[in-house]
Amino acid sequence: MTLARVTSFAEADEILTSRRFAQESKHESAPLVGGTVLVLDGPAHLHRRRLLAPLMSRTALAGYDSVVAATVDSCVRAHADDLVPLGRSVFLQLAASMIGLGELGARTPRLLALLGPLLEAVTVEWSTRSHEVVLAEGLAAREALVSEFPRFSEGTSLAAIMAEHPGEWDDEAAVREVVLFLAASTLNNAALLVHTVDELSRHPVPDTRLPDALAETLRLYPPTVALLRRALEDVTLRDGRLVRAGDHVAVDLHAANRDPAVFGADADEFRPGRAVAGRARPWGLTFGSGPHLCLGRAVVTGTAVTPGVHLRILARLRELGVRPDPDRPPVLAPTAQRRHDSYPILLL
Ligand code: HEM
Repeated sequence: MTLARVTSFAEADEILTSRRFAQESKHESAPLVGGTVLVLDGPAHLHRRRLLAPLMSRTALAGYDSVVAATVDSCVRAHADDLVPLGRSVFLQLAASMIGLGELGARTPRLLALLGPLLEAVTVEWSTRSHEVVLAEGLAAREALVSEFPRFSEGTSLAAIMAEHPGEWDDEAAVREVVLFLAASTLNNAALLVHTVDELSRHPVPDTRLPDALAETLRLYPPTVALLRRALEDVTLRDGRLVRAGDHVAVDLHAANRDPAVFGADADEFRPGRAVAGRARPWGLTFGSGPHLCLGRAVVTGTAVTPGVHLRILARLRELGVRPDPDRPPVLAPTAQRRHDSYPILLL
């Protein structure tokens, strides 16, 4: 098997949108997320995406915004000294409402404790610890999740959609889809919150520029190191390289998002509101592109009618004077994905 690395924005976008490449990510984490919307391909993938679409309807997005508004202050009170558990607990409430786990309330610390090993196992491909151990810990957390957190299939939620389509998900597939949604809604969002606060501590902007700052942080810190794809037929890339049928390509999002041809000669710098070339989005390829484009992007970046949950949280944290604690350095997680295990903060 040959693995080509793709670093230019144009080539990366071409591969992700092409039907001549299939999803190849998430082999090692298959016991947790195999068979989910993230790894399906072709018509089965399209069908699953259609079933899940109501989770991102206008009403659903407004609901997530309300959940965040209602919980952010209690999460700040519970974790006023560290942005990692603070962010994870806010996004956990959001995930719980999206999945249909009901009000978490006093059960929040328990789910937060299960979340750590689950998130590490779902991204085991990038872990620098023993992968066998990471997977075993993740599967144990998954068992605890299933036995301790029943799903309620009312309202618009993943549980409700799965109950309406019993032929689509058997018990095992249902648990895996839940794990995917739990991880997807918490992991990258919590990492993004930390990177944004970190960048803003060095490059302050007024509130009106927060959307630009968020997009610029997304561009510079794509949480997914690389998206893997497999060629379904012989394909000649733009630079003339031949990818043979069956060969793999690693789409390097970090490099593509810093491509000077699209983001300018100072692409490595944090410059909110920068001009971008062509049809590129300000956050680059951080949410992927093509058929597997992130289903939850609107939760993060907002839409014409909903602001996106980060703006609300950032605004509240800024009111509280959030800043990194100079006496307690941040701790990076043991993974090639750039995210933190701890980011100590001070509030007013
Ligand atoms: C900062 C936040 C987020 C980032 C950077 C992010 C990034 C990504 C990326 C890069 C992909 C594409 C994977 C691929 O092509 O192989 C993806 C897919 C996905 N994301 Fe997100 N995501 C974020 C938040 C969310 C949220 C809040 C949800 C809520 C459910 C979510 C749900 C999903 C799902 C279900 C997929 C699979 C879609 C498919 O394969 O059809 N994500 N995400």
